[in-house]
This record gives sequence, structure tokens and C-alpha cells, in this order.
Amino acid sequence: MPDTPLAGRHVLVTAGPTYEDIDPVRFLGNRSSGRMGFAVAAAARAAGARVTLVAGPVALDAPAGVERIDVRSAAQMHEAVMAALPADAYVGAAAVADFTPATVSGHKIKKGPGDAGLVLELVRTRDILADVAAHPRRPALVVGFAAETGNLEANARGKLDAKKLDLVCANRVGVPGSGFESSDNTLEVYWNGGHRRIGPAPKAAVAAELVGLVAGRLVDPTTGRPRP
Ligand code: CTP
Repeated sequence: MPDTPLAGRHVLVTAGPTYEDIDPVRFLGNRSSGRMGFAVAAAARAAGARVTLVAGPVALDAPAGVERIDVRSAAQMHEAVMAALPADAYVGAAAVADFTPATVSGHKIKKGPGDAGLVLELVRTRDILADVAAHPRRPALVVGFAAETGNLEANARGKLDAKKLDLVCANRVGVPGSGFESSDNTLEVYWNGGHRRIGPAPKAAVAAELVGLVAGRLVDPTTGRPRP
């Protein structure tokens, strides 16, 4: 596919939730379906890229021609992403757990007759997106996602700065036609000095437009030639 915009490029995408084990039968998860990340992987492949998709536990088939690496936890996702570098672009669409149990019980945690509650100690996970953006082999373009219930622009731009991203895609969660468990999505995409709304539209169309933005930024605007 030499004439497609991402021909010769490697795009690394994460998708889905992570599951953080508490004991052999329980875990902490979240409501990410993985559909947005899978749609981005499919769109990048359609644009000619070699695509690596690191997926948390989801009930989705990998898009044709995409290399899929299945993981469960945030720690496993971190390891798989680092092993898949270098890449020209990284799109962190996964809803990675921010916290994980400090210890995983080797046996099923049982309630005692007098137990009124249970305190779980959680520790921070490593931030995959920030680590990719700070990596010595940093992709030319690092794209993050932000699921927000309020102060969308301020929170999203905060992530852009704090994690040193090139683009951040903010999702308004909890409203129809956007975010988790929805087949449609609306993204507010922010970068330093700019903004574009994508959607509301089916996730495949939103992903195609986002990949178009990514492809455009991998080209040098003065020469029209691919950035090295
Ligand atoms: N992310 C990551 N590794 C983590 C946590 C998050 O790579 N351990 C990435 C996600 O893939 C996503 C972005 O960071 O691209 C989301 O940022 P985050 O700060 O986790 O957002 P929230 O969970 O919404 O955080 P906050 O509690 O600050 O709103």
C-alpha cells in the first residue's frame, strides 16, 4: 500500500480495560469495551500502517492484518507496549487502571461472620502513556485519551502538558453518543494551539478522522514529505 498515508509507518495502539486481580476469582476492572481502540487500529491499518494492537480483556476480534497482543493487567500492558516500541505513532486508547491492589491474595478472600467491611490497599500503576512520551525512542506522535465528566477542556489540556502529549482526545462520559459502551463517539481533540471536534459519529468514522489527523502530523508541512 505505498500510496496510502501511513505506508511504511508503525502505529502502536492500546485498547480496552485492564483487570487488576484481587484474588483468584476477583478483579478491579472498568467499563471500557475496547471498540474505540480497535477502530483506531483498523483505521490505521486501512491507511497503510503496520499496526500493533495491545488489547486488554475485550470480546472483540482483531481487525484484519493487525498484530494483536493480549494482556490483562496494567503492568502487563506496560511491558507489552515498551517491547513493541519503536513506533511512529502511539495511540493510548486503553482505559488503564490507575490503581492496582498492593498484594494479590493467593486464595479467595473469605468474609468472616463479624466483618462489616473490607479495606483493600491500592497502589498506583505506572503511567504507560507518560512513559511512552518520555521514552528515549519516543514516537513522533503520542496521542492520549481523557475520559471526563466535567471541565473537559481544562482537564484534557492538563493531561496534554503533564504527560507531554502531541494530541489528547477527550471523551465526555455519561452522556449519550459518547464514550464507554456506546457504538458512537464524540471526541474533542486538543493540541497546543488548536482543537477539533470529531463526531458524533460511529466509532469507525471517528477513528478514520483521528487517523487522518495523525497521518497529517507525520508529514512535514513545509516540504509535504514524511517527517523522519
Ligand atoms: N494511561 C496510561 N497508563 C496509566 C493510566 C492511564 O497509559 N497507568 C493513559 C490512558 O491510556 C489514556 C490516558 O492515560 O490515554 C488517560 O489519562 P488518565 O490520567 O489516567 O485519565 P483519568 O483516568 O481520567 O485520570 P484522572 O483521574 O486524572 O482524571
